Amino acid sequence: MISINDIDKTFIDTLFEKTDDIINHSDSNGNCRLNTHSDKILVSAFFEPSTRTQLSFESAMKSLGGSVINFNSDTSSLKKGESFKDTIKTLSIYGDIIVLRHPQSGSAKEASKYSNIPIINAGDGNNEHPTQALLDLYTIYKSFDNNLIKVTNILFVGDCKNSRTIRSLIQLLHLYPHISIYFLPYSGCYPSDDMLDIISIKQKTNPIVLNKNLPIPYHLFDVIYCTRLQKERIFTMKQESQLRADLVITKDVLNKCKNDVIIMHPFPRNNEISTEIDDEPNAIYFKQMEYGVKIRMALLDILLSR
Ligand code: NCD
Repeated sequence: MISINDIDKTFIDTLFEKTDDIINHSDSNGNCRLNTHSDKILVSAFFEPSTRTQLSFESAMKSLGGSVINFNSDTSSLKKGESFKDTIKTLSIYGDIIVLRHPQSGSAKEASKYSNIPIINAGDGNNEHPTQALLDLYTIYKSFDNNLIKVTNILFVGDCKNSRTIRSLIQLLHLYPHISIYFLPYSGCYPSDDMLDIISIKQKTNPIVLNKNLPIPYHLFDVIYCTRLQKERIFTMKQESQLRADLVITKDVLNKCKNDVIIMHPFPRNNEISTEIDDEPNAIYFKQMEYGVKIRMALLDILLSR
């Protein structure tokens, strides 16, 4: 599970069916505890900070009865100059599956060359974050009565240049070409020309980049997907001074939207979405986190059963 390119519609259908099944077998607290992989060990290798991705994978693995061991880049032999190759080869001896997050684009693919156990890409630089895209798509699917045909227009707000979650979700949406893609970027965070060109080819309609200084047609959107400014991927002071996280989804904005719009965010949130809408039924970001555990349970089950 290195890239969205490894995924087709049949895989998504199987994954979503399995996830539905896990949810249907959950108790009243929303927990589903199985014992199907009690002989398996997951190696959690995060070279970059994480809360949700790391802990949801750990929770998912433990919910399948399996064990988790953690690699800590700050206290490991990396500090003694060990190479990435030797590190990955070592980790692949200790477990049955590796979940890898790394600041370098392409690192998950590189790791897969050195490992003889499956690697799950949990985010590589500003490149991809395939399992986030799967849980995002599942959240959209559940919010529209298990029917992605009901979704017409998606608006991506924020750092449309550096966000790997936007990039990966868009790649996944190429499997659903009836969906039209709009962007509302922060200043200096415009989607790349490459991204826009690919969307024009893959989706039935051309992407539209909205200007935040003009009236925004909020009433058009079924999904509004917000992201924070990816400060850690901005390398020069000059670049940083040109960037501004200057769009906030408030109650006033929500009032201009469709009644059944869903507001999503992969989190962490800075101040892209006002907390005043957290209790509105449209604010789906905590549900999105819940689905994250279930999607990752289903995914681990598929990969560990192969
Ligand atoms: C995202 C990530 O790490 O790319 N978070 C996540 O995985 N839930 C988004 C972000 O850091 O802004």
